[in-house]
Amino acid sequence: MRGMLSPSLMCADMLNLQSEITVLDNLGVDYLHLDFMDGKFVPNITLDASLIKSVKSVLKNMKRDIHIMAFEPQNYFDRMEIGSGDIVSVHFEACKNVNEVLSEIHSRGASPFIAISPDTPASVINDYLDKIDGVLVMTVYPGFAGQPIAEGSFEKIAEVRKIIDNSNKDIILEVDGHVSWDLCKKMRESGADLFVAGSSSVYSKGMKIEEAVEKMMKLIK
Ligand code: DX5
Ligand code: ZN
Repeated sequence: MRGMLSPSLMCADMLNLQSEITVLDNLGVDYLHLDFMDGKFVPNITLDASLIKSVKSVLKNMKRDIHIMAFEPQNYFDRMEIGSGDIVSVHFEACKNVNEVLSEIHSRGASPFIAISPDTPASVINDYLDKIDGVLVMTVYPGFAGQPIAEGSFEKIAEVRKIIDNSNKDIILEVDGHVSWDLCKKMRESGADLFVAGSSSVYSKGMKIEEAVEKMMKLIK
């Protein structure tokens, strides 16, 4: 599967979101990564559900890649207008009944992804291989941009890759957190397909977004 890019909107210029989105949309970027946080599962609050909903109306080419860092994420699906074409990643650590939440995403025509934080073993995904279209491997502790990569991230990516390959299912491996210029190739070699690019690459200081996207696309292809 070719490498795909999902720039993280929470790292963009918050005062110019619409123009930031339009620029990306015209650059052939695959997905737009939209982080939602409840302030309880993670001690931070970023893009709110109504913004994530309104993004839908301005996207012409990119699809929404929604990452919900919240307990009982199904409580936000209506407000975000979850529907076909969306990736929706929910945290294994945040759901009372993971199967039910994944089925709910599927019933809305969206693609269910299970997200696992750095301290959660890769093996937990074995119980959900029939229910998911992807795994979101957090390579930082969820909640903030600009963090260093978590210990053992490359091994984790490779372990998830092995589980996916052995399952013979079409499951995407997404990585999120410190996807930097110098580490993204190693993430690709470890088995990643979809790259959430934030402050350590596409939104790194002093680089035009067009240049940064082009550079990233070459590194992950
Ligand atoms: C962190 C979010 C990430 C974050 C990535 O909890 O899920 O999407 O924006 O930012 P960087 O690339 O700076 O780690
Ligand atoms: Zn994210």
